[in-house]
Amino acid sequence: MKSTLQALNLETLGHILVSFLRQRSPLAPLQFLYARSKNFFQIPLPGFRPFVIGGGAANRQVLVTERNKLLWRNPSDPVTTLLRHGVLVVDGPEHDNYRRELEPLLTPGYLQNYIPQMVRQVDRVTATWKDGQTVDMLVESRRIALLIIMEALFSVDFWDDLPRMWKSILKVIDYISPGAWIVFPNIPRPGYTQHIRALDNYLYQIIQRRRSAPARQDLLGHLLDIGLDDGLIRDQMLTMLIAGHDTSTALLAWTFYLLGQNQEILSRLQNELEQSLQGQPPKRAAGWQPALLDEVIKESLRLYPPIHLGNRYVAEKITFNGQTVPAGERLFYSIYLTHRDPMVWKDPDDFEPERFADGCKPPPFTYVPFGGGPRVCIGAAFGQAEARLVLARLLQTHRFQLKSSKVFARMGATLEPSPGVLMRVQRKTE
Ligand code: HEM
Repeated sequence: MKSTLQALNLETLGHILVSFLRQRSPLAPLQFLYARSKNFFQIPLPGFRPFVIGGGAANRQVLVTERNKLLWRNPSDPVTTLLRHGVLVVDGPEHDNYRRELEPLLTPGYLQNYIPQMVRQVDRVTATWKDGQTVDMLVESRRIALLIIMEALFSVDFWDDLPRMWKSILKVIDYISPGAWIVFPNIPRPGYTQHIRALDNYLYQIIQRRRSAPARQDLLGHLLDIGLDDGLIRDQMLTMLIAGHDTSTALLAWTFYLLGQNQEILSRLQNELEQSLQGQPPKRAAGWQPALLDEVIKESLRLYPPIHLGNRYVAEKITFNGQTVPAGERLFYSIYLTHRDPMVWKDPDDFEPERFADGCKPPPFTYVPFGGGPRVCIGAAFGQAEARLVLARLLQTHRFQLKSSKVFARMGATLEPSPGVLMRVQRKTE
């Protein structure tokens, strides 16, 4: 096969460069290559040449029918160094074992227990806002998501420790984000060790405290009950902490950005919430489904999927529609490109929550914000309930006005609105 790089002529390279500069993100050039290559291409960078696929049929191969040819663990990736034996970066029986233990505590049946805590954490954060103040919803969403995940899964009230741990958490996320290490895997990465150690020490202290405290029925309690050692418990805790809050942060921040740009949808949503909540805080995770709220969340996940691609190591060669990826290569299935495919979505770049109205179901594996198959996101129900609850409570109590003018999609550990989502907040009068 002629390499993608060789196949690019000057005009195409120009197009890639212009779209990159206009959107200040590699997403636009990737969209261009995707359309041009019928959903199969190789990123043409020296030293970094992963294959990229997307679309319903190829996603199904990666996620279900041929998933055994692919591994999640890529030993040289920073995420593997960081999470060690966390459920996200192991394969085979080791993965299935952790997954079986963790999953019951995140199922829809269990979520109801977390609802009052979620509302309480939102109220605590908004109590620090001054009326008329401009806040960054990327930062505020992260504060809320961190408080929620620490309390729900580990029974830790993170409020007092959050300011002290904030920088280390951001540095740890930066450590696993794409950077120069992609092209130069052995490049020294000073400045991270102290922050990883700080977070590790914090988690080990929590584990120690719990070993000598009365048993509690949360995710940490279960990991202790099944007899894992401290190191393995730390791996699962750090995995859940990072995967479980950075994604929700991005989802909430993008949703505020989209609503801020679409005032008409925002006011319809606020009306819907007023009607359905009748002045009471949201109380249920399921069985309470304001239609527009769910549609808005789904559409936000379509346009800006927090995990915008799935990363795999090809253990055995795999063929997509006649084109083969050899063993030993890196393969991405692109959630972002799949979600913006004009063959599937009408006006794919537009924010139109109604496309998810009752009865509108996208074809299989063309809408995959949580991945799919046996390794579908373990926190999908939790993440959706959290988004619903947090958005409902924030919109019930406050008015929001977008102040940011230009926001870019930054490919960090998640797809993040950069430099942030500035909004003026005003408490509603009761
Ligand atoms: C809006 C919220 C979330 C989104 C969009 C999201 C997205 C995803 C996606 C796309 C995958 C699969 C990636 C792939 O196939 O390569 C995944 C896996 C995973 N997610 Fe989430 N996630 C969210 C929330 C959560 C939460 C709340 C938790 C934990 C409480 C969590 C923990 C995990 C874990 C541990 C995996 C790996 C599962 C396995 O390999 O068995 N996620 N997530």
